[in-house]
Amino acid sequence: TVAPPCTMVIFGAAGDLTKRLVVPALYNLVTAKRLSKNYRLVGVDLSPKTTAEWCQGLEDMMHEFVVRGGGEFQADHINEAAWRWLADRMTYLQGDLNDPGTYSRLKEHLADLDKTSGTAGNYLFYLAVAERFFSVTVAGLGAAGLVTEKDNQWRRVVIEKPFGHDLTSAKALNAEILKSLQEHQIYRMDHFLGKETVQNIMALRFANGLFEPLWNRQHIDHIQITAAETVGVERRGKFYEKTGALRDMVPNHVFQLLALTAMEPPISFDADAVRDKKAEVIEAIRPLKPAQALRDAVRGQYDAGTVLGKQVQAYRSEPDVSPDSITETYIACKLKIDNWRWAGVPFYLRTGKYLKRRWTEIAIRFHQAPYTLFRGTRVERMNPNWMILRIQPDEGIALEFAAKRPGPTVKLSNVSMDFAYKAYFDMAPNTGYETLIYDCMIGDATLFQRADNIEAGWRAVQPILDAWANNPPPEFPNYVAGGDGPAAADDLLARDGRAWRSLD
Ligand code: BG6
Repeated sequence: TVAPPCTMVIFGAAGDLTKRLVVPALYNLVTAKRLSKNYRLVGVDLSPKTTAEWCQGLEDMMHEFVVRGGGEFQADHINEAAWRWLADRMTYLQGDLNDPGTYSRLKEHLADLDKTSGTAGNYLFYLAVAERFFSVTVAGLGAAGLVTEKDNQWRRVVIEKPFGHDLTSAKALNAEILKSLQEHQIYRMDHFLGKETVQNIMALRFANGLFEPLWNRQHIDHIQITAAETVGVERRGKFYEKTGALRDMVPNHVFQLLALTAMEPPISFDADAVRDKKAEVIEAIRPLKPAQALRDAVRGQYDAGTVLGKQVQAYRSEPDVSPDSITETYIACKLKIDNWRWAGVPFYLRTGKYLKRRWTEIAIRFHQAPYTLFRGTRVERMNPNWMILRIQPDEGIALEFAAKRPGPTVKLSNVSMDFAYKAYFDMAPNTGYETLIYDCMIGDATLFQRADNIEAGWRAVQPILDAWANNPPPEFPNYVAGGDGPAAADDLLARDGRAWRSLD
């Protein structure tokens, strides 16, 4: 179905996120015929340009993505008619977000569009700007009366991450934006929730009778969540130096994977029903004590090495990075969830830059068979059952189990039942932002973070942030770029008699 008419305003219209993700996603929504003919797009940014220049820059970028391949925008050509359709609906407004005049000019422009373009007075404000502009932009919109909902006109605001840099700042930001907005108007973005495979975790668990009865401590030994990246810090040194892998990935993306895997069944798929259950499970993560935080969380920083055949430099030699930086580019940790379903089941999480392979998965390890009937096979040598939810790339779900090898003697081998998305479904080019932008237009907040979800995430990682802030890191750099991450991460599992799944 087509989304209702609206004007979408992108703050940060000349920025990277707009070019790489938001506009390509809008283009994909056009080709999928999801946007109303009365959709309008207004770009606001500081740099002086005309509408024609703004559109041209975005179009060039899209063509470049097609030629270069890879990246988030996977289309193999640009449909000229679809691009025209979008470009004809775009206008650019130069403005400083700190200047109240920007919002009054925007207000006039939006009122004009309402009169001439049938946009129904619905506004979607998209904050594709640096974190320091979040509060000021929301306050500016508030002061200009642009976020007051009336009659049937909705006003929504999408806020990108990072939402705060710790629990205190996240709370302060929530309090600040709630001065101008009501919670139902706020769409806090976590782009992992736009990934089809992430959304499918709920379908797997709650649309099938087979798995849920096994989904608990009686049957599951432990869970591993991996988000391994083959990119380094790239040109984001300035941002990354004060962020690090823990803040950048764990309380948001990795916890989304954890929450969807571990939450209780919601009573419906209403946004709040789902978000209640997610908040509940994140709140049930046992807070680490300081000494435990140092033991159960491992940090790493990459050294020079070779990633996918390419030589790369150490983190400390990257642009805008201090030569004695103590920022981590890798984190692994062990968390426990204190509830009936998960008591005693460790969740091991790891994520890092410049690892061997780009690989995001949730691996569920079931208990061993209680004893073995098979001569010569000790229980501890039998292959355990794993269920693997492959988030990206090579999206799919696999179930690993033991089978008898053909032949006169009984020998067992590990085999895999494997569902690959692309074998069943046409995977249209997708940046992961399409669903999220569309959901915002139709007013479905299920895939967005509520204030309590964000705060619960920060609360759970805060002990690690504190412990690390108070204790200098181990010898950095401590892992070779293109490898598996620091050795200490292996020790973390080895202490429990377990091992990470290989990244090979
Ligand atoms: C972003 C982080 O939120 O997510 C990046 O800031 C990270 O550092 C990225 O690379 C990972 O997302 P994806 O979709 O590429 O797995």
